Amino acid sequence: MKEKSGNYQSDIHNSGYESEYLESMLESSDLINIAGRETESLNGKWNFAEDLYDTCRRAHWFRGESCGFSDAQVPLDYDWESWEPISVPAVWNLEKHELHYFEGSGVYTRTFHYYPKSKGERLILRFEGAAYRTSVFLNGKLIGTHDGASTPFNADISDAVKTFNRIIVVADAGRNPLRIPMENTDWFNYGGIYRDVYLVRLPQVYIKDWFIRLCPDGTFSNIIADIDIQGADKSYVYGKALLEIKELRIKQEIDISNGKGSVKVSAKPELWNPENPKLYDVEISFCKIDEFKASKQKDGGFKSSDNVKDRIGFREIKTKGQEIFLNGKKIFLRGVCVHEDHFALGKTTNPEIIRQTICDLKEMNGNYFRLAHYPHDGRFARIADEEGVLLWEEVPVYWAVAFDNAGTYKDAENQLCELILRDRNRASVIIWSVGNENADTDSRLGFMSALAKKAKELDDSRLVSAACLINHEKLKIEDRLSDFLDVIGINEYYGWYDPEFDKLPRILNNSNPGKPVLVCEFGGDARSGQRGSVDDLWTEDRQKRLYEQQTETFKKCSYIAGTTPWILYDFRCPRRLNRYQEKFNRKGLIDADRVTRKPAFYVMQKFYEEKKQIDCFPDTDVNADNSV
Ligand code: GCU
Repeated sequence: MKEKSGNYQSDIHNSGYESEYLESMLESSDLINIAGRETESLNGKWNFAEDLYDTCRRAHWFRGESCGFSDAQVPLDYDWESWEPISVPAVWNLEKHELHYFEGSGVYTRTFHYYPKSKGERLILRFEGAAYRTSVFLNGKLIGTHDGASTPFNADISDAVKTFNRIIVVADAGRNPLRIPMENTDWFNYGGIYRDVYLVRLPQVYIKDWFIRLCPDGTFSNIIADIDIQGADKSYVYGKALLEIKELRIKQEIDISNGKGSVKVSAKPELWNPENPKLYDVEISFCKIDEFKASKQKDGGFKSSDNVKDRIGFREIKTKGQEIFLNGKKIFLRGVCVHEDHFALGKTTNPEIIRQTICDLKEMNGNYFRLAHYPHDGRFARIADEEGVLLWEEVPVYWAVAFDNAGTYKDAENQLCELILRDRNRASVIIWSVGNENADTDSRLGFMSALAKKAKELDDSRLVSAACLINHEKLKIEDRLSDFLDVIGINEYYGWYDPEFDKLPRILNNSNPGKPVLVCEFGGDARSGQRGSVDDLWTEDRQKRLYEQQTETFKKCSYIAGTTPWILYDFRCPRRLNRYQEKFNRKGLIDADRVTRKPAFYVMQKFYEEKKQIDCFPDTDVNADNSV
């Protein structure tokens, strides 16, 4: 990056100032799989200032002399040590009242010490999520910039780190028509470093990534492993990797050349499924070729220069005709949508909240979540692996993004790659979704079909979908994007936004989609405790009746392979301003308090109980008259 003069004038007459920070993007190609690695947390109190005019980046505050404010020889407009502390991870909107609707650039800073533990070690700085455009500076130098509010990013800071370090992070949460999502969404735009931040120490040559899964060949007896090795100076390396899955008696050497290696091994793993979420301990080690020959042991082991461990479930998800098969058995996805929105923590979450969310799903007899509309915290898929829950994960290509803008596509594809690289070892994830409710235009078709192809390129073991709109003129399920999807998602609000409910059965009868359909949104608002007749908007009675009509209709449609009503919990939404909403979207089956169930919750519970019976006992005729 070219050095900028530091004089005062140049720092205020610089309208194109942001471009210099976009020359060093932190992207999916930099992403290192850190699963199972030891991490050193940088969470805690950071000093913070809301920088409404983005002056830190305009005026290069980050170059600030290491001297303190009081020793400065010229007047400074920043003052790292006197700023008020703020928690990391957290959304600033719920940390300070005056920041509730702040969507500009927040400047975070803290110091830390670093002492190397091994010769030549690499030091990686990792963010699990920060909204939206995040520029990271260390000891006066730009480390890089990341776009995207919901995916991880990391940087190798080995060459910039010292014993005593000052880190500065500018998180710009602004909404913008060229971003993903664009400036108009139906959820709250939280800001800040709202997920974990930590350091990871790596050897000079390390295992950068691995992708281990059951080969989707219908035999359930072949495991494929792809390994990616990275050298310190991004040099390609030659060597040997060793894949060990002791419980399956797998100890397989893998040749590494040009930094990559793959193998297919025969194995008969116990298959992962919601009823039996079996996980295996997987270990991968690596040894550079020159050290391998010298260290090869009789039992096939060798002195490794890097080791990683993961816990992986093996399962196969496929479609055939209009049905979805998990491990060769037809399955109905009994799900619900959920936003990453907590009344007290906003978009920040934790394992306890995730486990409670899964408990609430299971109380409803569900086995599946649509994690809307963006990648949720990476721990969700890890915990879903343990708890036996299936997941639809999605990138926020939401509504009318700039489909004809190359930079917007690059951003969308990068977020999709970061999501897939983060979670493709998670058995719980069965569907990658490339977007939600986008008008069927030529530019959208090009943009989203390219995303669908990219998803398949990175991961041939999962299904690709999107939440599509129904063709309301033809009253038909018809969307050109469907040709590029394995499963067609449809959002429909008959009985709510369109009061003519009987259009839904007509649409379903009028369509022949040729592949499985997931009703990935339906429902209506109800203010918790609001009672009235089934015709009264905003009442629990109206919502319950709507759910009864919807579920009765689904029972009569053979190509619906799953449903996810919108939504499990009421959530914050600045667009929702009437007396019942009060800046919340009230379509939740449970109130925003995450305790108070609405009557419609029990309609879904009963519908899924019946579906569960069919899943478990396929010959059960749930409509048979069981009265005695
Ligand atoms: C849309 C959209 C959701 C939104 C919902 C609603 O389908 O996908 O994000 O919240 O409808 O209107 O409540």
